[in-house]
Amino acid sequence: MIQVQSISKRFTVAGQPFLALDDVSFEIAEKDFVCIAGTSGSGKTTLLNIMAGILSPTAGAVMFREKNIHLMSDRELSRFRGDELGFVYQSFNLIPRLTVAENVRAPLYFGKKTDHDVGRRITAILETVGIPEKANEYPHQLSGGQLQRAAIARALVRTPSLLLADEPTGNLDAATGLEIIELFKKLNAEGTTILVVSHDQRFFEAAARTLVLDFGKLVRTTTGTTRKTARTKKGA
Ligand SMILES: Nc1ncnc2c1ncn2[C@@H]1O[C@H](COP(=O)(O)OP(=O)(O)OP(=O)(O)O)[C@@H](O)[C@H]1O
Ligand SMILES: [Mg+2]
Repeated sequence: MIQVQSISKRFTVAGQPFLALDDVSFEIAEKDFVCIAGTSGSGKTTLLNIMAGILSPTAGAVMFREKNIHLMSDRELSRFRGDELGFVYQSFNLIPRLTVAENVRAPLYFGKKTDHDVGRRITAILETVGIPEKANEYPHQLSGGQLQRAAIARALVRTPSLLLADEPTGNLDAATGLEIIELFKKLNAEGTTILVVSHDQRFFEAAARTLVLDFGKLVRTTTGTTRKTARTKKGA
């Protein structure tokens, strides 16, 4: 579904070049469930932003179903972002002057559904993430964990085929985090491809494999439940 091909990203920090991603390559199959781990500053958010077409790479390409997303026309890019992609931002990116329901509704403005269908969809998705009673409140009235769940609802409201999520349980207690992990597992079982940045051991176990970034380099891949380093065993 997605091929990340030799991606590098250079930022300029205080006039000096800084390599945030260094020749990163991997593939994600349709219906895959992949986790990305790595220390703070290792380039995880930068990588997700490049995969979502929010940032351009300095070198390399991201292919989504054989199309280079950074060479897409505006129309193709908005179709990719609107119809295929769900994105959970590390910092939520909710719009402060809209209620929770209005924030979740925002991606639906460009769809073809009737108001009645839209209302039902929003109620259902807020129930799924466990904050139906917050529909008419504003982001500043919500706790960190509730904001996180509103951001997840917004990412899922158009049932994306690809979900990119940046630390979606980072602001949740262990029990609520588990609910989100279970929700992601269910979505994956129903066919959603998932790439999630997380430090949560339970996500490593749920995912088919975990990619580890270190100073912008992909240093290893481990497989989900067995946690073995995915290398070919010599003589096996
Ligand atoms: N727009 C930018 N300009 C300059 N440097 C940047 C920019 N965005 C990110 N960086 C730098 O790139 C590196 C990687 O940042 P990134 O946000 O991708 O890390 P991360 O792995 O997501 O970290 P965290 O776990 O703390 O969220 C950091 O050193 C950061 O300071
Ligand atoms: Mg980050």
